[in-house]
Amino acid sequence: MAEENKSSLDALSALCKRRGFIYHSSEIYGGMPGFWDYGPLGCELKQNVKQAWWQFTVRGREDVAGLDATIIMHPKIWKASGHLDTFADPMTMCKDCKKLMRADQIKDIYADQKKKPQPKVAGSDFFCPYCGGELTEPKPFNLMFKTVVGPIDDPSNVAYLRPETAQAIFAQFLNVLSTSRQAVPFGIAQMGKSFRNEVTPRNYTFRSREFEQMELEFFIRPDEAIELQYGHVVTLADNPDIDGPVQDDWGWEVWHKYWVEQRKRFLNAVGLPTEHFVEYWQKPDELAHYARACVDIEYDFPFGRQELEGIAARSDFDLSQHQKHSGVSQMVFDDPLKQAAKKLDDAARSAFIEKTKSEWVDRRQKALSAKAGREIVLSAEEVEEIKSAAQKFCLNLFDGKYIPHVIEPSAGVDRLMLALLCEAYEEQRLTDEKGKDDIRTVLHLSPKVAPVKAAVFPLIKKDEAQMKFARDLFEKLRRKFNVQWDVSGAIGRRYRRQDEAGTPWCITVDEQTTKDGTFTVRERDSMEQKRMTTAEFLAMAYEALEF
Ligand code: GAP
Repeated sequence: MAEENKSSLDALSALCKRRGFIYHSSEIYGGMPGFWDYGPLGCELKQNVKQAWWQFTVRGREDVAGLDATIIMHPKIWKASGHLDTFADPMTMCKDCKKLMRADQIKDIYADQKKKPQPKVAGSDFFCPYCGGELTEPKPFNLMFKTVVGPIDDPSNVAYLRPETAQAIFAQFLNVLSTSRQAVPFGIAQMGKSFRNEVTPRNYTFRSREFEQMELEFFIRPDEAIELQYGHVVTLADNPDIDGPVQDDWGWEVWHKYWVEQRKRFLNAVGLPTEHFVEYWQKPDELAHYARACVDIEYDFPFGRQELEGIAARSDFDLSQHQKHSGVSQMVFDDPLKQAAKKLDDAARSAFIEKTKSEWVDRRQKALSAKAGREIVLSAEEVEEIKSAAQKFCLNLFDGKYIPHVIEPSAGVDRLMLALLCEAYEEQRLTDEKGKDDIRTVLHLSPKVAPVKAAVFPLIKKDEAQMKFARDLFEKLRRKFNVQWDVSGAIGRRYRRQDEAGTPWCITVDEQTTKDGTFTVRERDSMEQKRMTTAEFLAMAYEALEF
């Protein structure tokens, strides 16, 4: 990590503290690692980021419905999802200094150290990056926070704070389906708090123990259902137009790419240019066993290139798991599919079943081989098991029934806010009118997410007419968006205060205003000033704020 980048994160966090974006949680008691509070500007920024996501993902579309589920849910949900058994990081402890750390992060911690310790046990390559001491054998540490529901502190009452918002969506899939007038393909979106007892929370708000997620589970038909109904499945090889309207015959691959592009579009809209993030397509051996594909959108944070959000094609894994563990069928009924299947004669049905069986066997074999890094040959029993599952699946399809597959774009609110702040932060070296060097600290936040949209300044406090016009304008604007009122200090200083807050427009009411109703609007990034009427200003602002 370059020193310059490290210091830019220090400068950003100092600004965030000074201007009320981000504070340490419980600061007067010494703070809590991995917990952060958002101050007056931070919580406005957060609201705007969440609102933008909701508008883009839910309200702006006809095929997505919202959900707001509880943080604590039935513990069986976490058994079904796999979190109880596998949501763990390898943890190790230094036998000397007693520091706890993630075994898989030791190399990064070591790389960050200015003064690098040498191993106390000569020749050891697994030693404490802080003191060189001997480390304990890594042990899996489950990241879910435990709590007890009800007055009796007994293991039977243990519950968990959710480590992701996604599982509530799967658990409520049937309710939303039957009450929202949606049909597959459609999505369910949720934003809200998630909790992970991260072993080593690091890099400011990047990896926190309490954070918010914005997740969409977009349910699609399995490819086999599309094949049955339309006689073909559109894949990426067909070069489909994913910028145009969505199509019924798109297979999972196209839907996945479509959502990657949608997420990139969203990131652009809130202020991250495409050239500042990269798409990392996970390699077959990196994928979870149920995942068909996963793309991480990575951003160049000051502490290195890191995941901002992910878009995963998760097959029917989650709903199938909940069906298995709850005993409640998660299948949907698709009448057009049933009608299409009715048209097939026995020979066509048999051919369809055989084709599906061989595709499933082939897919499993390829996935296992990719994971193992060598050719894996399935045993005869495994082949039979897959073929029997494929047969059952096909018979259900002929009845118009299937468990939907899912594409999951999953983003973190706090992580996106940090990326937006890093992207926006600039220290400009300027020369003032007297020829003196000056530094202007400015947050180039997109107006769509900026915490304060405009600030109103009467030029001369003692001028009653100016004060009245400015106050009336302020009252009018604050009914529409977040506006600040500032009468203290020279205009230049008032501009600087707003630059640091990322306010896109500063309005100065002056002598001319009281004559012709126009005021100056100073644009934050260009620092250009234009005279406008209230109507002109509102038209310009609405255009910039619209999604
Ligand atoms: N449902 C899938 C899921 O939760 P994830 O990659 O574990 O996937 C999704 O999390 C996103 O949530 C991440 O890309 C990141 O933006 C955010 N996130 C995850 N853990 C976080 C943490 N400890 N602190 C802040 N944000 C986090």
